[in-house]
Amino acid sequence: MRVVEGRALLRGRFEQCCIGIEDGKISSIKKIIKGDPHFDFGGNYILPAGIDIHVHFREPGPTHKEDFDTGTEAAACGGISCVFDMPNNLPATMDAQTFEEKRQLAAGKANVDFGLYLALQEDSRPKDLSDLRSPFKIFMAGKKGGLAFGDYGRLKDVLEETKNTQMHTSVHCEDQNLIAKNDGKSLEEYLRSRPNEAEASAIGILADAKAHICHVSARESLPLLENPNLTSEVTPHHLLLNEHVDLAGFGKTNPPLRRKADQMAMWEGLISGRIDIIASDHAPHTIEEKQEEFSRVPSGVPGVETSLPLMLMQVKKGNLNMGRLASAMMETPAMMMGLEKGSIEIGMDADLIAVDLRRITNIRADNLHSKCGWTPFEKWEAIFPLATFLRGELVSKDGDIQETGRGMMIQKREKP
Ligand code: DOR
Ligand code: ZN
Ligand code: ZN
Repeated sequence: MRVVEGRALLRGRFEQCCIGIEDGKISSIKKIIKGDPHFDFGGNYILPAGIDIHVHFREPGPTHKEDFDTGTEAAACGGISCVFDMPNNLPATMDAQTFEEKRQLAAGKANVDFGLYLALQEDSRPKDLSDLRSPFKIFMAGKKGGLAFGDYGRLKDVLEETKNTQMHTSVHCEDQNLIAKNDGKSLEEYLRSRPNEAEASAIGILADAKAHICHVSARESLPLLENPNLTSEVTPHHLLLNEHVDLAGFGKTNPPLRRKADQMAMWEGLISGRIDIIASDHAPHTIEEKQEEFSRVPSGVPGVETSLPLMLMQVKKGNLNMGRLASAMMETPAMMMGLEKGSIEIGMDADLIAVDLRRITNIRADNLHSKCGWTPFEKWEAIFPLATFLRGELVSKDGDIQETGRGMMIQKREKP
């Protein structure tokens, strides 16, 4: 039996123990187990690996920005063992055929487990699509010719249908009617073109739908999240950055980086649990693309590899406790997606990371694995995992990929 040994997070407490692994699952947890192989991390922490339910790996489509190989390599090196990839591809993932094409591209290449979102538009039939046992994504705003679901009247009917399918439904909430046509020339102007009200209004439109709100960023949104039908996520960039960062086009993202007061409100939302989870919204674009004239710069920042290391640093600094980090990045995302992951318990997938909280490093784009080649967090302090295990296999060690192509596609199990 394989064994991972260290100070493991068990039911909210750290205990020195051995985690026995058979067929990729945790099969025993004891003080002493003799393993072969036996990975001994001494007094370092063993946590469940992170789960990032919001990434854009660009395949099929603009794979010069990212692909499933590089995206999942970045995930593994950042302590993430499972990602859910968004459907705004070329072609968009929106029916059985495009889903199957994307699955074939990812299978065999993915270095961590993955799920695939299906885009819903006005003419989508969620009930038929639910045969694919995969989550749905709705974009309430977007460029012409994109995936935006512009008919908000019809949106309510579609959401009623998704509720009956019991599939997770993520929504990008910005009210298209409240977004200015002109992006402006700076991050401050960009924020004014996509005001807080656009987000709050979009969440309001969902009314009593059962939905997951992507990347909450505006303080006005928080009271709306009291609604028990809604769950939500926040990104590390909305927690750690605001409109005043010196990033120019590199900081252009949707929803925009907002004011300091919004940033502080996101912390309060995260800590209080009003915001359920953290997801990266990893949206890579190349350095050349981000250096274009501001209005032409594509929106999005990379983050899948830095999100857990940055948040572990926040734990180290005392801004977040380890229990809340584990619920926001491991347990709750696993529960949302119906995964047997996200906690160290017998029967769960042995998706684990080893962490030394004393080993602080500075983030350098050169050491990251995304194809895009940059990060908004250059030089920021972070705590990268010593190792990441996927179903008991060592997939990354000290920032280098080890086993490749082991990722499997996740589809929701039928209810027994
Ligand atoms: O900034 C963003 N970038 N927001 C989105 O909703 C899409 C994403 C992308 O795909 O680049
Ligand atoms: Zn979005
Ligand atoms: Zn996104």
